[in-house]
Amino acid sequence: MDDARKAYGSMGKDIQDILIPAETLQKRIADLGRQISLDYLGLNPLVVGVLKGVLFFMADLLRNITIPMEMDFIAVSSYSAEARDQGYVRMVKDLETPIHGRHVLFLEDVIDTGLTLNYILQNLRARQPASLEVCVLFNKPEHRLINIPLKYKGFDLPDQFVVGYGLDYREKYRNLPFIGVLNAEVLKR
Ligand code: PRP
Repeated sequence: MDDARKAYGSMGKDIQDILIPAETLQKRIADLGRQISLDYLGLNPLVVGVLKGVLFFMADLLRNITIPMEMDFIAVSSYSAEARDQGYVRMVKDLETPIHGRHVLFLEDVIDTGLTLNYILQNLRARQPASLEVCVLFNKPEHRLINIPLKYKGFDLPDQFVVGYGLDYREKYRNLPFIGVLNAEVLKR
C-alpha cells in the first residue's frame, strides 16, 4: 500500500485506489483560487458554501483567493430519499448575510443529479444578488437530471463510489486528504 493510504490506517485499507492524490487536488484548487481572484477583483464577493461536504474545499480554496471577500454557509437536508429524487430539499441553516445586490459565488463539493444545486440556486436567485455563479470541485455528469452552468469546475468524476476530501460513506472518510475509490466489501458491511 502507498504511504498516503498507510497514514490513514484502517480507513486507508478500505480504499481500493487513490483516484485523485492530495497534491493534484491542491494544485487544481490553487488554479481555481487564482482565476476567481482575477474575475472578482474589486467586487467583494460573498462566497457561500453548503455544509458539510464543502468544508475542506472551501477552506483550501479561500486560502488561495487573494482579494477581499466574505463567506457564509447554508445547510440543506432531504425530507426523504423520494422527496430528494423529486428535487425537494429543506434548508436547515440559512445565510446570515443579506445577498441583495451582492456578487455571490456558490461553492459545492459535488454535483450529481443537480437537484440539490438547482433548488439552492432558485432560492438564492429570488433574493436578487447582483450575480450568482457556481464553483463545483467534483462533477459527476452520469446521473445529471438538470443542466446547470458551472462557471468553475475542478474535476470530472467517474460513476464510482468515491470518498475523501469531504465526501463520505455513512459520514466517514471525509477527512482523507485525497479522493479514493471505496472497496466493494466496505459497501456490503
Ligand atoms: C452532496 C453535495 C450536494 C449533493 C449533490 O451532499 O454536497 O449537496 O450531494 O447531489 P445531487 O446533485 O444529486 O443533488 P450530501 O447530501 O452528500 O451531504 P453532505 O455534503 O453533508 O455530505
